[in-house]
Amino acid sequence: MKTLVSREIEKAVSLLTKGEIIAIPTETVYGLAGNIYDEEAIRSIFLMKGRPFYNPLIVHIADQSKLESLVSNIPQKALLLADKFWPGPMTLVLKKKDVVPDLITAGKDTVAIRMPEHPLTLELLKQLDFPIAAPSANPFGRISPTKAEHVMEYFNGKLKMILDGGVCSKGIESTIIGFEGEQAVIYRLGSLSKEEIEKVVGSVDVKNKAENNPAAPGMLSRHYAPKTPFLIVKNTVDYCLANQGKQIAILEFRASDHYLENENVVRYILSGTGSFQEAASNLYKSLHDLDKLGVDVIICELLPDQDLGRTINDRLRRAAKS
Ligand code: TXA
Ligand code: MG
Repeated sequence: MKTLVSREIEKAVSLLTKGEIIAIPTETVYGLAGNIYDEEAIRSIFLMKGRPFYNPLIVHIADQSKLESLVSNIPQKALLLADKFWPGPMTLVLKKKDVVPDLITAGKDTVAIRMPEHPLTLELLKQLDFPIAAPSANPFGRISPTKAEHVMEYFNGKLKMILDGGVCSKGIESTIIGFEGEQAVIYRLGSLSKEEIEKVVGSVDVKNKAENNPAAPGMLSRHYAPKTPFLIVKNTVDYCLANQGKQIAILEFRASDHYLENENVVRYILSGTGSFQEAASNLYKSLHDLDKLGVDVIICELLPDQDLGRTINDRLRRAAKS
């Protein structure tokens, strides 16, 4: 007898093969998935997200042997990283072969590829005879979804299927790594920390550009944004004291003793124990939840700039850009 899960995967395979778009779970965030070789499907992904066509998509594969059919000139460091971190929250930007459609790469001669670590999506990818492109399943600029309900709220009725894989364990997008000569460069901070990467390939540069689009520097820096005004402050207690009467939600890294008991103030603690990993996995969920409270402002302090604190700070800064 087929299990519920295998029937869901079968349905997902059938829809994707017919050129439909579905939402899929990954360990980072949910994605809007389509066949990379189906131009119409890929166009509808861009349109559904409201994403500009100059912003390229990530190609998802299930096994490393696919890599050679999609890219050429794989640097030694890329192979080391793939061996160590795939499947996992790491995307490699490599020279593309002609088979990869220009629509996917926005005309660039490189393609971004990753092998996600989610059992449902890995199984799905194994059963497909094409790779899938999957940007995060949120309208352009909004907070990325970390559970099926978030996707439903964004795209209710517009998707034939949301493959429900529960809550994303990592909760922040993959780290994107490219190569400039032999040097590994981080193009987007993500769920895999700089420190972890450096253990494998030595020192890396961080060029965390606005959506990696040199043609439009700074244009896309506001991202991952709640609708409620969002502020980074030096000290949350001082802010509350200076803004009494405002309804304030505080996003806090760890439970601090300096807290103002006040009926106008609610707080959300990202990690009781001060774990960067736990804080990262709770970040988007907390922004989704706080955005629904109807407060006047959400405030937070930056985290220590190390490990995944660096990634969380990047997302906080983008959410706070106006
Ligand atoms: O964790 C993730 O990576 C999620 C899940 C669904 O896999 N996907 C994701 O996709 O975050 P998206 O489309 O939201 O972000 C893709 C990023 C964009 O910033 C894009 O500019 C960059 O990848 N990108 C794609 N191709 C690139 C390339 N050839 N060179 C540089 N950056 C590239
Ligand atoms: Mg995204």
